[in-house]
Amino acid sequence: MIELKDVYFSYPSGAVLEGIDLTVKKGEYVGIMGHNGSGKTTLARLITGLLLPGKGHVRVNKIFTTDSERLLDIRRSTGMVFQDPDAQAIGETMEEDLVFGLENLGLPVPEINTRIEKYLDLLGIRELRHRNIRTLSGGQKQLVNLAAVMVMEPECIILDEPVSMVDARCRKIILQHIARLNHEGTAIVHITHDPEELIRCHRLIVLSLCGITNQGTPREVFGQLLDEKKMDVPAPYAISRKLGLPLALTTEALLEELCRSRSGN
Ligand SMILES: Nc1ncnc2c1ncn2[C@@H]1O[C@H](COP(=O)(O)OP(=O)(O)O)[C@@H](O)[C@H]1O
Ligand SMILES: [Mg+2]
Repeated sequence: MIELKDVYFSYPSGAVLEGIDLTVKKGEYVGIMGHNGSGKTTLARLITGLLLPGKGHVRVNKIFTTDSERLLDIRRSTGMVFQDPDAQAIGETMEEDLVFGLENLGLPVPEINTRIEKYLDLLGIRELRHRNIRTLSGGQKQLVNLAAVMVMEPECIILDEPVSMVDARCRKIILQHIARLNHEGTAIVHITHDPEELIRCHRLIVLSLCGITNQGTPREVFGQLLDEKKMDVPAPYAISRKLGLPLALTTEALLEELCRSRSGN
């Protein structure tokens, strides 16, 4: 549903992306990883049509992001959770924000209420509903922004560093929600510099030096990165490989493999 073809983008300060080819299919979970400054946020903004490519094209459900008359269709099918939690809020309270989006979809009031309650419960943030957004912590704002996109039930959600400001417990919950949304059919583009967030994605893409340097399943890409000594990989993966155990992506899986190998000895 998303297609980038030979996309180039530069800021006045210099080139950021060069010759990017990328497709995201319906229902796919794509992770995009790269160091700070590698162009991840720029890529997300190109997908949603907030930035336009200098060369090449970006299409969402076959609509070119340069087609300004149909930008609204693109915004309806793709929701973006911004890296900067302050960049997104429109209203004073979360309730205002959520209602605003849903009214724009033309939903009747009872449906609006049902949806808001569903997602606030799901994310465990019912108590934030009427709080002034400016008084919330960075992590709470990230949760509110996530809720604002989830209630719209778009076909694809683009998440730019979605858990950078939340604590460990909340982080786990959000990552589970992302995986669950994907399981229920929403395509996900999950952008982060942290490889541990991306162990559940179907396809992992590494951005570096203006282009895509690696792509494959998380296991394949982490293996390549270790071989190339280029970037962090999840610790359980590196440890299991070093010990010659079956490759583990989570601490739980690593512990299981360790127990199994010890009981086998
Ligand atoms: N609005 C902007 N104007 C000029 N340069 C920018 C702007 N936004 C980002 N950049 C530069 O583009 C490069 C990529 O930035 P960005 O896409 O934010 O990377 P990432 O999200 O991977 O950290 C960086 O060198 C950054 O300084
Ligand atoms: Mg960024």
